[in-house]
Amino acid sequence: MAEATSKDLFLASLERCSANAEFIPAFYKRFLASSEEISIKFRFTNFEKQNAMLLNSLRMSAGATSGSPEALQELKARALSHDRDHLDIKPELYHFWLDAAIATVEEFDDNWTEEVAAAWEKILGFVVEYFKRRY
Ligand code: HEM
Repeated sequence: MAEATSKDLFLASLERCSANAEFIPAFYKRFLASSEEISIKFRFTNFEKQNAMLLNSLRMSAGATSGSPEALQELKARALSHDRDHLDIKPELYHFWLDAAIATVEEFDDNWTEEVAAAWEKILGFVVEYFKRRY
């Protein structure tokens, strides 16, 4: 069998985590607790909607990293909504997002390995760098 790619490892891990309805809420709990600036940004957010959006954008991240044109288009639109003229998410806030995501996956994925960790770092690292460059 061919070796699993980062994208395969990432998507399989995401499916294991998101089978538990507590996964995305646990991510937001950790993310919002990591900085006051972040919790302030989300003070008016409806988390029922936000939870579904995050799951979609994690799937999009996998597609964008492997060059899917639809996923790259979506990534561009999301980076625009986060830039200085819109949500105004400063580049230095992104490491909180990345750290909260990795820590939450480590907690929820029963098959967490070094390889799975490296796949998450690679895919989310790409997305975070993309958003930061477009600030
Ligand atoms: C690369 C990492 C990130 C991804 C993939 C992501 C994804 C998303 C998506 C899909 C939405 C909903 C659609 C939209 O408004 O564009 C959203 C909204 C939002 N994001 Fe992010 N985000 C990321 C990082 C961050 C960071 C670091 C912050 C820091 C505070 C942040 C703050 C927000 C806020 C305040 C909203 C609006 C929530 C509302 O509607 O009330 N995001 N994000």
